[in-house]
Amino acid sequence: MARILITSAIPYINGIKHLGNLVGSQLPADLYARYKRARGDEVLFLCATDEHGTPAELAAAKAGKPVEAYCAEMWEVQDKLGRGFRLSFDHFGRSSSAQNHKLTQHFADRLAEAGLIEEVVEKQVYSVADGRFLPDRYIEGTCPNCGYDKARGDQCENCTKQLDPTDLIEPRSAISGSTELEVRETKHLYLRQSAMRGELRDWINSKTDWPILTTSIAKKWLDDGDGLQDRGITRDLDWGIPVKKGEDDWPGMEGKVFYVWFDAPIEYIACAAEWVEAGKGADWERWWRTDKGAEDVRYVQFMGKDNVPFHTLSFPATILGSGEPWKLVDYIKSFNYLNYDGGQFSTSQGRGVFMDQALEILPSDYWRWWLLSHAPETSDAEFTWDGFQQDVNKDLADVLGNFVSRITKFCRSKFGEVVPEGGSYGPQETALIADLETRLRRYEAHMDAIDIRKAAAELRAIWVAGNEYLQSAAPWTVFKEDEERAAAITRFALNLVPFYAGLSSPFIPDAAAAMAEAMGVEVAWPESAEAALSALPGGHAFTVPEVMFAKIADEAREDWATRFAGTRG
Ligand code: 2FM
Ligand code: ZN
Repeated sequence: MARILITSAIPYINGIKHLGNLVGSQLPADLYARYKRARGDEVLFLCATDEHGTPAELAAAKAGKPVEAYCAEMWEVQDKLGRGFRLSFDHFGRSSSAQNHKLTQHFADRLAEAGLIEEVVEKQVYSVADGRFLPDRYIEGTCPNCGYDKARGDQCENCTKQLDPTDLIEPRSAISGSTELEVRETKHLYLRQSAMRGELRDWINSKTDWPILTTSIAKKWLDDGDGLQDRGITRDLDWGIPVKKGEDDWPGMEGKVFYVWFDAPIEYIACAAEWVEAGKGADWERWWRTDKGAEDVRYVQFMGKDNVPFHTLSFPATILGSGEPWKLVDYIKSFNYLNYDGGQFSTSQGRGVFMDQALEILPSDYWRWWLLSHAPETSDAEFTWDGFQQDVNKDLADVLGNFVSRITKFCRSKFGEVVPEGGSYGPQETALIADLETRLRRYEAHMDAIDIRKAAAELRAIWVAGNEYLQSAAPWTVFKEDEERAAAITRFALNLVPFYAGLSSPFIPDAAAAMAEAMGVEVAWPESAEAALSALPGGHAFTVPEVMFAKIADEAREDWATRFAGTRG
C-alpha cells in the first residue's frame, strides 16, 4: 500500500469559482484521490481557501463587510460547493488558520537564519488620509495610454497596459479617493531566491517524468530573466500573517504582513495540521516531514498553468531554504485553460458558468464527466453548450445509462429482480472478458499516469463494449428460443453493472454509488475482469435503478445558452 499526499491549488477566497477553475485543479485532484483510495492506497487529500492579499480585502470592502467575516462566510460557501461537486477532501482548510500563521512565521525565521532573507528599503506610495501605504492596485487614476479614468496602479483594465502607480495621471487612493499621496520609504523582506538557482535547477532537471507543460514553464522561469529574481515576501496590509520572529516583533517590520504568495503554499502543510486539530487524523508530520515518516510518501500537486512558477520555484525555495526535512513535491500535474463559448471564463467579469449555477441546473456527475473528459491537458479546451449536450447525452445517457436500464429492466420482465441462474457462457463472453481485461489495465495505467482524457476515453470504451455486447447477444431475441442461454447472457450483463460502478466511481461517484446500490453490492475496484464478471451469482437480488442520466433536451440547452451568454449580475 502506497501513501499518497495530494493537494489542489487553493482557490482565492474572493468569490465563487467557475468551471474553468474547477477543472484546473480541484476536480482532477479529486479524481486522482478517489482512484488511489479505490486502489487501496492511503491517501491524504488537502485543499483550503487562499484568504490573504488585496483581492480579499477589496472583495470584503465591496461587500461592505469586515475582511474576517467576509472570509469566514466565503469559506462556508466554497466548502458547501466543494461538497456539492463531491470533492473528497480529507480537509478543506483556510490559509488564515492559526496553524498557517505559525508555520509561515516559522519558515521566515528559518530562511532568515539561513541568510536567505534580506531587508530592503524601498519607496512606496503612502496615503496620508488613509494612514497607510497603498498596494499598487489600491491606487487609481487616469491611464496615460488610453485616458480611462479608473485605471489601477498595476494595470489599466480598459486597455490592459501594465502600469506603475507613478505612471497614473492624477492618482488617488482607491480606499478613500484622497489625492493626498506621498512617496515614502518603507522596509520589506526579500527572499533571496536567486541564491538557490543551482539547487532548484538540479531539482527540476531531476524530474524527468513531469508533464511537459510543467517543466517547460519551470525552466522558462528558472532561466529567463525575471523568474528567479529575489522577491518581496512582505506587504503593507492589515489583513494577513503578521511579520514576526517567533513570538517577537521583527524590528522595522511592525504592521506588515507576509505576501499572500508566500503563505499560500505553506497552507498545504498547515492544512494537514488543521486536519489533525479537527480530529480527523492523528499525525500530520508523518505526511510532511521526511524525518518523521514522510520519506515514503508520494506527493502530487494539481494546478493551473499560471500557478506553476510558484510551485516549481518559489515554494520549493522556501522548503529547501529552510534547511529542514520537509517533503518536496514529487509530481506536478498542471493544466491549460478551459475557455467558455468563444472567450474566456472570467471571475471579474462574471463570464461563464460558476460552481453554484452549475449545480442549480444539473447534478454534479454531468459536470464531472464532461469537465474531466475534456480536461485541458495538452492544450486549452473549450466549453460550448452544444458540445456539452452532445457528449453528456451520448456518453452518460445513451451508453452507460441505457445499458444499465436496459439490462435491469429486461431481467425484471423475464426473470424478476434476481440474477438468473442456468445456461452457460460461450465465445462472446470469453472475448468480452479478454477485451475488458486489456482495457482495465490500460485504464489503470492512464489513471496512474494522471492522463485524464485518455483514462476517460478508455472508460467510455469499456462502457461501449458492454453496450455492444448486449446489442449483439440480444437476450430478448434469444429468450424466445433458448431461455437458458438468455439467462446466461443476462447474468453476464448484470455483472457488468458493479464492474462499471467500481471503474466509474472516480469520475461519477453518485451514479456509481447508485449502480452499486441497485445491484446490492459495495462500490469496489475490480481485481480482474474475469473475477468481477462472475461476482454476482444466480439468485442474487437487485433492483432496477432510477433513471440515472436524463438527457439534456434542446430547449434546456437553448435556455442555458441564453441565460449564461452574458455576465453574472
Ligand atoms: O491561483 C489561485 O487561485 C491561487 N489562490 C492558488 C494558490 S495555490 C498555493 F500556492 F497555495
Ligand atoms: Zn488604459
